[in-house]
Order: sequence, then C-alpha cells, then structure tokens
Amino acid sequence: MNHVILIGFMGCGKSSVGKALAEALLVPFVDTDELIERRDGRLIRDIFRESGEDFFRDLETETLALLLESNERMVIAAGGGLPLRPENREYIRQLGTAVYLLATEETLVARLRQDDTRPLLQGGELEKKIERLMAEREEIYRETADLQIVTDGKEIYEIVQEVRKNVG
Ligand code: S3P
Repeated sequence: MNHVILIGFMGCGKSSVGKALAEALLVPFVDTDELIERRDGRLIRDIFRESGEDFFRDLETETLALLLESNERMVIAAGGGLPLRPENREYIRQLGTAVYLLATEETLVARLRQDDTRPLLQGGELEKKIERLMAEREEIYRETADLQIVTDGKEIYEIVQEVRKNVG
C-alpha cells in the first residue's frame, strides 16, 4: 500500500504532523492509539493498568492487520512502541512509507513533562525513563524508517513540506 506511517518516540509530533500532513494530502488521518481506544472502549492508560502492556501490544498488532485491509490511502501515526515487534515492522513495510520523526531528548522531556496519558512515563524520573527507552528503540526506528526527519526547532508546516518533498 502507499500509506504514510509516522513512527518515533512519544512526543516527537506524530499526531500533530500527521493531522497536518493528512490535510495537505487530502487523505484521512488515523492514530493507532485512538483506534485501539475506540475498539477496546478503554483509555490506553487503563488498558495498561488493567490488562498489561503485552495485551496492549497485541492490540497494536491487530490494529495493523486491520489497517492493511484498507485500500484508501491514509496517514497513520503509530504508537511509539509499535515498531518494537518484528511482526509489526513487517506490517509497516507492507503498509507503505515509514517516516521517522526525530527529536532530541531535551525536546521530548520538555514536551512530555506535563503528560499523564502515557503509562510508560509515569512515576517520576522522566529524563531517565526517556533516555532508557530511547537507547532501546533508536536503532529500531532508524532501521524501520524509509525517511528520517529532524523536528527540533521546526514548525509543523516545515516538517509537512519535508515529508511531501520525499513522499509522492
Ligand atoms: C507508547 C506510546 C504511546 C502509546 C502507549 C505506549 C510507547 O503512543 O501507544 O502509551 O511504548 O512508546 P504515542 O507515541 O502516540 O504517545
């Protein structure tokens, strides 16, 4: 398929860039977290708390399988941990072009400081949590991506332009 899949760490701008990009391309925008919440009927943080992370990861894989059934082109924002499973990376490859939105740890810390929706970042020591997760994930994001875009200090419209320059 020729979807655009935005990947990257929590707070890197997948949703805001994704919405603007979808508008520019005149295609629907979907966010895997929103699809999961809608299908499951619970918020992500409640899914994590009540059913655990593995259950949530299974829902991510199911969501990718569903998205693969759609023929209409879309911009898809993938949850930050979604590319971790090899089978999900294979789904991403089948879905279309993966764009990795990069942000420095300082930018992420600043954006995620007030956040209470992301279970993996709750409970203090935000910098350490981000650093640890980034160390585990950075290589995976890079390997999964067809295109990488640095987002620090850029306006959303600039990032959208960069994606459009590279994605037909
Ligand atoms: C997660 C990222 C979140 C959400 C969940 C787990 C992660 O999505 O899927 O809290 O493991 O990085 P965003 O990247 O949209 O915040």
